[in-house]
Amino acid sequence: MATYIVLLGSPGAGKGTQADILIEQTGLVHISSGDLFREHIKNKTDLGQLADSYMSKGELVPDDLTIAMIKERISKSDCERGAILDGFPRTLVQAEAMKTTLDEMGEKVEVVPYITAPEEILIERLSGRWTCRASGHVFHNLYSPPAKKGVCDIDGSELYQRDDDTVETAKKRLRVYTEKTLPLINYYRKQEKLVEIQGNQPIEKVTKDLLAALSIEA
Ligand code: AP5
Repeated sequence: MATYIVLLGSPGAGKGTQADILIEQTGLVHISSGDLFREHIKNKTDLGQLADSYMSKGELVPDDLTIAMIKERISKSDCERGAILDGFPRTLVQAEAMKTTLDEMGEKVEVVPYITAPEEILIERLSGRWTCRASGHVFHNLYSPPAKKGVCDIDGSELYQRDDDTVETAKKRLRVYTEKTLPLINYYRKQEKLVEIQGNQPIEKVTKDLLAALSIEA
């Protein structure tokens, strides 16, 4: 059996930060729907162009396009042992589509850590975030600054600020999250897969709580 973990949480909760750490501890692949869309935008594909028109406004990319992209990614051989999903599913339609896909593969979502943090903290995190151009590694100008300003500690590539990390677009993303993604909390709670993780703690402490939720020793 493969292990599929869904990281839930609002924009800025720390899903990407924690997924990057968890892949070291679990050997699983990190699949971020946002990173996949940004890769398409960078490569100027048709999907990228379309996705950009939604992402720049803080809206969700339509379900059918998102589901097709994730299905294709999960079918790759590096996902044989499973994956940590970050940013997907984000609607009930996506969650149901993922369930059907995994059912067909004889797999299931194992556990759904739900990382929470207050809205003012989320806005501060998003507006201070710096992202690595090559691989999407994330830093924060106050909470996890890179050793050298503007340069990724991990791969040396340039750090940039995402277009959707302005305060105005971040607020819109949080509204969309409340409307479209919050119903997933109950969806996974009913399936007894949800584990709430307090995200308003130092990064290392959040990791410790996540590892405990996943029953993995640090
Ligand atoms: P996406 O890229 O998925 O963005 P998001 O969900 O809005 O999440 P973020 O990446 O903003 O936050 P995060 O929780 O990963 O936080 P991070 O670890 O970076 O999606 C972008 C867009 O793509 C969407 O708006 C939508 O348009 C589209 N899209 C994506 N998926 C889709 C889907 N499934 N369906 C439809 N559309 C989709 O941390 C944030 C900052 O805080 C960093 O600077 C970090 O260093 C810092 N930080 C993290 N943890 C801590 C901590 N514990 N203490 C202090 N600082 C911390």
